[in-house]
Amino acid sequence: MMGSDPIGPSEGTPMQSGFGNHFASEAVPGALPVGRNSPQKVAFGLYAEQLSGTAFTAPRHENRRSWLYRMRPSAMHPPFTPYSHDTLIRSGPFDKAPSSPNRLRWNPLLLPQDPVDFIDSLVTYAGNGDVGAGFGCGIHGYAANVSMVDRAFFSADGEILVVPQQGALRIVTELGVLPVAPLQVAVIPRGMRFRVELIDGPARGYVCENYGTPFRLPDLGPIGSNGLANPRDFKATVAAFEDVERPTQIVQKYMAGLWTTTQDHSPFDVVAWHGNLAPMRYDLTRFNTINSVSFDHPDPSIFTVLTSPSDTHGTANIDFVIFPPRWMVAEDTFRPPWFHRNVMSEFMGLIHGEYDAKAEGFAPGGASLHNCMSSHGPDAQSYAKAVSADLTPQRITDSMAFMFESRHAFRPTRWAMDTPLLQRDYDACWTGFEKAQLPGMEQA
Ligand SMILES: [Fe+2]
Repeated sequence: MMGSDPIGPSEGTPMQSGFGNHFASEAVPGALPVGRNSPQKVAFGLYAEQLSGTAFTAPRHENRRSWLYRMRPSAMHPPFTPYSHDTLIRSGPFDKAPSSPNRLRWNPLLLPQDPVDFIDSLVTYAGNGDVGAGFGCGIHGYAANVSMVDRAFFSADGEILVVPQQGALRIVTELGVLPVAPLQVAVIPRGMRFRVELIDGPARGYVCENYGTPFRLPDLGPIGSNGLANPRDFKATVAAFEDVERPTQIVQKYMAGLWTTTQDHSPFDVVAWHGNLAPMRYDLTRFNTINSVSFDHPDPSIFTVLTSPSDTHGTANIDFVIFPPRWMVAEDTFRPPWFHRNVMSEFMGLIHGEYDAKAEGFAPGGASLHNCMSSHGPDAQSYAKAVSADLTPQRITDSMAFMFESRHAFRPTRWAMDTPLLQRDYDACWTGFEKAQLPGMEQA
């Protein structure tokens, strides 16, 4: 690996298994100190640096940190100055546009014509909470057609969950390379520098920037010790580095603004690391879906992949929930999602296929927002189909929708309210329901 420029191809990239495990990885034998974190002299003159993801005194089972052994300290950079590019990334508090109580839905982001990389393509749909107060999230989309070159990004405001919808990515991070394709997701710790390269053409997807408690696996309660997203299916990077003496632009998101500096070497110079704060990938097709085998169906919380808890037990800052392929076998049951008004607010996206509550209008790459107490559910066409369906076992195939669900109402950005991608006729999908006929009531 020594002197590689850039970090080699991702084909067959080795990974380490297990959510939140305490990993140890070195790209050069002997680089990782043994039995201590910060020896007086690190091998090869490497610099030891701790990156924390939680307060030092967070309970042990929540505590996240890693030790990085790098060619130069990350501190070796000039001051950051405001990033001058026009950008549509926005941040909490989301108070620039009036909050609409309406149900909202957007067509997919258009792929750019001119060259645009991941950073400059980020556009914010909505968000909640406050970066300074450390709760809530920002929900962004990206649609990029070129790789980041000699550029790196990080968010000091939050952890980054990337949900690719089109196009595989190769995310080069300080702790190694994370290849991630549609039907996989990536979680990048707060503050970690990364570069997004495109592997197979233009890429589009969704990003949840989690300002709050880092994502963790949900408790399983009576489900038991297995099920949903299993810990071993989370793959962390192994150490990989590049020895590049070339100006590299670092763009950081800090307290809602973008800032930039240029340093004279690559930030991806971590030769060895150990710890439990690491970039991770999860393959959504590994999700062990649990559902009703009798009647009715459980609340969609049964599909939670990751949760960022809030200070109130059982009430998430953010849940990342998927709607994967699965058998529907419930008897005498309306099988699609029922009509509902929830306390929790729901931002949805579609990775591919069709979502069973909406036959039309919710396209892969599109998005919808149903906030606290907004009435929603199946559209009239999906409803009519479901009430007359033959309730034989049925398999939902080739579909993957997801939801970012939050206790805090999502506030759309001005872009989200003004963009032509917003479907102005969305409410119409809940028209045309026939009135129920009570006994003795005359047919209209
Ligand atoms: Fe909903």
